[in-house]
Amino acid sequence: MYTRRQLSWRLQGRRLSGDSMVKRMLERLLVTGGAGFIGSNFIRLLLRERPGVRVVNLDALTYSGNLENLADVQDDPRYAFVRGDVCDAALLGDVLDGCDAVVHFAAESHVDRSIIDSGPFVRSNVLGTQTLLDACRRAGVQRFCHVSTDEVYGSLALDGDDAFTETTPLSPNSPYSASKAASDLLVRAAHETFGLDVVITRCSNNFGPYQLPEKVIPLFVTNLLEDKPVPLYGDGRNVRDWIHVLDHCRAVLAVLERGRPGEVYNIGGDNERSNLELTQMLLDIMGKDDSFIQRVADRPGHDLRYAMDAGKLRRELGWRPRQSAWPAGLDETVAWYAEHPGWWRRAKSGEYRTYYEQQYGRREALPA
Ligand code: NAD
Ligand code: TYD
Repeated sequence: MYTRRQLSWRLQGRRLSGDSMVKRMLERLLVTGGAGFIGSNFIRLLLRERPGVRVVNLDALTYSGNLENLADVQDDPRYAFVRGDVCDAALLGDVLDGCDAVVHFAAESHVDRSIIDSGPFVRSNVLGTQTLLDACRRAGVQRFCHVSTDEVYGSLALDGDDAFTETTPLSPNSPYSASKAASDLLVRAAHETFGLDVVITRCSNNFGPYQLPEKVIPLFVTNLLEDKPVPLYGDGRNVRDWIHVLDHCRAVLAVLERGRPGEVYNIGGDNERSNLELTQMLLDIMGKDDSFIQRVADRPGHDLRYAMDAGKLRRELGWRPRQSAWPAGLDETVAWYAEHPGWWRRAKSGEYRTYYEQQYGRREALPA
């Protein structure tokens, strides 16, 4: 962790001029929310694939932020961590000094928590994004990459074969997706009104290492590793499009470097599965039978189906998912959790237990 003074020393140096936009942008990056699931995978990928980059990770370390996720890069001289909130305008002024681009992951991210209490979602996702946008304008940041979600489009019919495109109207159904849609609109407004160079990505459900076991895949995998039942909401017919986190991160990097200003890019894994199908696959991989499925009351406002048309990203930027296909991608993910019991046991301690009890403790069990 760095003090403000150490940080500005660390970031001092020659500003590039006249080089390609790509090179300038990637010289100095601010990543928000880099201690979370996707942000930590993104920072690791960036340091590996862009040797010239220097990155500052600004993260408030809420319940979902975990510096253990980046333990392997913490001593890299190109990396610095600052604990702080994206709603803190004064701090943003300091950390943005000398930054060429921002990749904005920081957010409250779990639908079920937004149903329990939407206040933190409006604060971090809406107010935080607006505060960050304003600070980026003041600091002369050259590009703002906003990481959003397919959930802003709402829900598709269960048995259709249509998919969300970038022009599908926003129609969010949960407090989480409503707060993300609001943040997307603020990003758009910063471009239209103030000419800030922005790009927006909207991705489907991620899976992979370092995902907090509140989301369905790591929750089910770690419960099964503990010989506990898995709480399947409703009839299990809801469909999600699953993408490996590194495929998402590569797409964000491509959009950051080469996306057209003001544009939205959908990202998807071409991997639609019902929750029941996902659960059966996990049971098979982990050698468990159906008796581990515990049907519980449905999530209120539960979106039926998400599906992404990522054609624009493929055509314009040549991106393709490389690691999202199942069963291989799912096998590897299960193996990662099996090999990292210390990581997820710590993640499932403390505040997590209170949340788990609140979310599942009194949830009505449905007939099997
Ligand atoms: P996560 O909950 O694992 O991580 C969020 C991170 O943001 C944490 O490290 C947390 O400490 C930090 N944070 C939260 N509020 C903050 C604040 N006010 N100031 C600074 N830091 C703050 O979430 P994730 O799954 O890694 O998602 C990252 C982003 O990607 C989010 O914007 C989310 O909407 C988006 N997204 C997620 C998925 C998915 O499947 N997980 C899919 C599409 C888009
Ligand atoms: P989740 O991982 O919370 O992602 P999202 O709600 O953003 O899509 O949930 C994925 C799907 O799994 C969703 O349809 C809800 C379902 N689900 C369960 O059936 N049981 C659970 O305990 C959780 C957390 C989710």
